[in-house]
Amino acid sequence: MEKNFSLLGLNTFGFDVKAKFFEKVQSLDDVRNLIGNQDFKDNLNKSRVLVLSGGSNILFSSGFYDGFVVYPDFKGIETLDETAEQVKIRCYGGEVWKDFVDYTVSKNLYGLENLADIPGKVGAAPVQNIGAYGAEVKDTICQVHTIDLFSGKVRVFSKEECEFSYRNSIFKKSGVGSLIYAVDFILKKHAELKLDYGNIRNYLASNGITHPTLQDVAKTVKTIRAEKLPEVGVVGSVGSFFQNAIVSIEKYQEIKQLYPEVPSYPVESSTASTAMIKIPSGWLIDRAGWKGYRENHVGVWDKQALVLVHYGGGKPQEILDLMHKIQASVKTKFGIEIHPEVNIV
Ligand code: EPU
Repeated sequence: MEKNFSLLGLNTFGFDVKAKFFEKVQSLDDVRNLIGNQDFKDNLNKSRVLVLSGGSNILFSSGFYDGFVVYPDFKGIETLDETAEQVKIRCYGGEVWKDFVDYTVSKNLYGLENLADIPGKVGAAPVQNIGAYGAEVKDTICQVHTIDLFSGKVRVFSKEECEFSYRNSIFKKSGVGSLIYAVDFILKKHAELKLDYGNIRNYLASNGITHPTLQDVAKTVKTIRAEKLPEVGVVGSVGSFFQNAIVSIEKYQEIKQLYPEVPSYPVESSTASTAMIKIPSGWLIDRAGWKGYRENHVGVWDKQALVLVHYGGGKPQEILDLMHKIQASVKTKFGIEIHPEVNIV
């Protein structure tokens, strides 16, 4: 166990935050040993335990985390079952997400190609049901393996028990109390490629690819991401800082009258009586004039306004101040409240 441990290399925003206590766990036995530690127990009882995975979706609100950081580093990929149509694979939580996607694509397995190059680790993927380019990880997950941090008991969640929705799950809603150590996926040997989101199809066509393969799609997603998002490890960020806005049909129509070009998507689970529409927050922030804005060490990415960036040497408070200014400005201009997607602790 480490004390006063710097998390500088463990959060992609790149803030030099110190954790009061820090421990890496690589097996269920490691977790059970940790549960016996008095400092750990004290902090768990005060809800001051943080399970930190890839650190790519977290903002510490100050330079000191007054609690216990647990860093799961379970490794391994196993094939559990294989039929003519599909493969069931277990991936342990400490594996790097983008390497796991590359592995599945290299094995010609369909399902994760649109999620290529998302930063973070496999254990965090179910927490906020990561999504990109028309795919969400929930569509491939069949089980999530967790260990309870109070009792040390293992619990396996079925897909239904995970309560997945847009950037959300039971794990995000219920907070810390358990640690995800492995995720089981079902990937297909043959499937339709998802090419409808944004400019994937155009990009393929402009490169002369008329019959794209799984590998072509993964490569295209990587190229589009690299053009829009800051490079992890070079510029501090957490990808999308805000969730996209979900508004009523009436609100959407009001905005569409003023801005006929407003992009929008239907919300999957909404019923006819409570129909809701998703409006990209990146578009709202962009139209409110923030794209490319910079103030001291922080700013709004000039190629995607949904992304706040830390250029180095700054404090978390600068990002929080910028967040509040952007939220107020979008509220004034459009009457819409936008909420952070990043986990603020
Ligand atoms: N837009 C603008 N200006 C901007 C940004 C976006 O006008 O500065 C417009 C775009 O032109 C487009 C629309 O907004 O019409 C949507 O933009 P984009 O396709 O870039 O997607 P997004 O909704 O902003 C979501 C995810 C991203 C994911 C992309 C691609 C959320 C919160 N974010 O962004 O996820 O990569 O779709 O699928 O749902 C992440 O979670 O960290 C992340 C990067």
